[in-house]
Amino acid sequence: MCGIVGYIGKKQAAPILLDGLAKLEYRGYDSAGMAVYNGEKIQMAKATGRLKVLSEMTYEGETLPGTVGIGHTRWATHGAPTDSNAHPHFNETETIAVVHNGIIENYMKLKKKLEDKGYQFSSETDTEVVAHLLDYYYKGDPLEAITKIMHRVEGSYALGIIFAEHPDVIYAVRKDSPLIVGRSGEGSLIASDVPAVLKYTRNVYFIENEEIARLSTEAIVFFNVDGESIEKESKQIEWDIHAAEKGGYEHFMLKEMNEQPATVRDTISPRIKDGEIVIEELGMGDEEIRQIDKIHIVACGSAYHTGFTSKYVFEGLARIPVEVDLASEFRYRNPILNKNTLVIIISQSGETADSLAALRMAKECGVTTLGIVNVVGSSIAREADKVMYTWAGPEIAVATTKAYSAQLVAQYLLAILFAKVRGKIDAEQVSTMLHDLKKLPDQIELLLSHKERIQKFANRFIAARDVFFLGRGIDYAISMEGSLKLKEISYIHSEAYAAGELKHGTISLIEEGTPVIAVATQNEILKKTISNVVEVRSRGAFVMAVTTEGTAEMEKTADYVVYIPQTNAYFSNSLAIIPLQLFSYYVAVGKGCDVDKPRNLAKSVTVE
Ligand code: AGP
Repeated sequence: MCGIVGYIGKKQAAPILLDGLAKLEYRGYDSAGMAVYNGEKIQMAKATGRLKVLSEMTYEGETLPGTVGIGHTRWATHGAPTDSNAHPHFNETETIAVVHNGIIENYMKLKKKLEDKGYQFSSETDTEVVAHLLDYYYKGDPLEAITKIMHRVEGSYALGIIFAEHPDVIYAVRKDSPLIVGRSGEGSLIASDVPAVLKYTRNVYFIENEEIARLSTEAIVFFNVDGESIEKESKQIEWDIHAAEKGGYEHFMLKEMNEQPATVRDTISPRIKDGEIVIEELGMGDEEIRQIDKIHIVACGSAYHTGFTSKYVFEGLARIPVEVDLASEFRYRNPILNKNTLVIIISQSGETADSLAALRMAKECGVTTLGIVNVVGSSIAREADKVMYTWAGPEIAVATTKAYSAQLVAQYLLAILFAKVRGKIDAEQVSTMLHDLKKLPDQIELLLSHKERIQKFANRFIAARDVFFLGRGIDYAISMEGSLKLKEISYIHSEAYAAGELKHGTISLIEEGTPVIAVATQNEILKKTISNVVEVRSRGAFVMAVTTEGTAEMEKTADYVVYIPQTNAYFSNSLAIIPLQLFSYYVAVGKGCDVDKPRNLAKSVTVE
């Protein structure tokens, strides 16, 4: 996520902005910038790279004198990490400066309208649209202009805004992206997150959706989206800086698990327009999609597990044959690729060595490559012929959760789009599936709220030595990810097994008390999985089942049942993985493991 800081008061703003942005560095970013009113006009400085570059470039802020300013660290979503795409963004006359965190979903439509009115854009960002739209509506009253753009802009935004004609105030505006304001003896502050203001105040206001704050040196006043003033209660922050960086959660992993509803929503909703799937950055025409006769999905670790899932979705909906490979295998097995093959590389970091090597090999074979990537401007994003972003924001914990969930829904969208273009599904089927997709964030939220129940169960596994995960089809893919999550953060050995394979050897390992987690969300093969559960239980296994609400048979079969809400069977991984993430998390916490930085692991494996 991007970081926003704003200050108005008696002190020089730039050093305070730099200090605040430094406290937000943990959020991940690729460029930074500041805009400060110097008594006559708004001066701006911005640069790609670390905050240090901006600090040195401005001599720790000395080249930006003034007591009113806004600052920003950018995590690129729309537009690569470049100086021109860095925030803040100006209107053309440089009398309005804006910093933004979030995604403007209708920015292309608004940008076209503004260009038709003669506005010139200097960046690829969605944010710059806000600066010019404010200019368009500004007739001398900033609050009026702000309320007007709020009725036009769709999507998520936290905004910091300064107007050269009103240098005695700063505005903060929020819809869906977090934003706080606070007062101290030195003046008033805006920030995306608590760590940036703790040095100055622990007394903050959390701006709610569609609220506006106007900050002056002496006071902060609040308005609603209609420009009417409202009263707000301040909150006292008790966290220390480390807790604040995790949003009050004990670990980044738990924080990021809880961000999954937002990241799934951010990855889905900007791509559903008037009931159609529109993936603007994909750049694949219908004819190109129709010509694909084979898909290879190539990735590592959890990303591979999402590909193993989407194989069923692509084949089931679009009827395109799909092979799924571990990148470290694919690059050495001399695969058969032809001109109508599409190779999809999935990677959160976009820098995984094996995945990047697989991409390069596929390109050398002359096939079309598509990167499904979370980091804009990463190697895989830049080198793939096509790209589709998972807008999960920076993921700090080594064990992926929110990026995994975003990778899943990105592939669902792609599979539905391909199926529709190839005439395999009709508009009604698309509509039904999009309806189910839009429900996923709330369903994930609901599953996350059951964390205490999962924690209680997890405590029984802290001393476990070997855990089996069983499933068939997509449930097997879910089992793979559940098993990896448990292994990588709790160091307990586990194995994901295709449930139908048990009798071919593994069942010999099942003995009294062996923990088994059975995933059974696929109705068509439910009875088969239930019989596998009976098999292992009759040999003494202790079974937790993850199944869909209404599967009463499982109550009589497993020792412990976790239910997920009804959804399209193709999407069940997005829900079933939530209790498994929580389960692994609480086992690891119970064992006192370093959940965010497990031993021997790196967030991005950039070496072979
Ligand atoms: C997942 O929890 C692991 N951290 C790991 O398996 C990861 O998914 C894998 O290394 C791939 O990383 P990437 O998505 O950045 O390419």
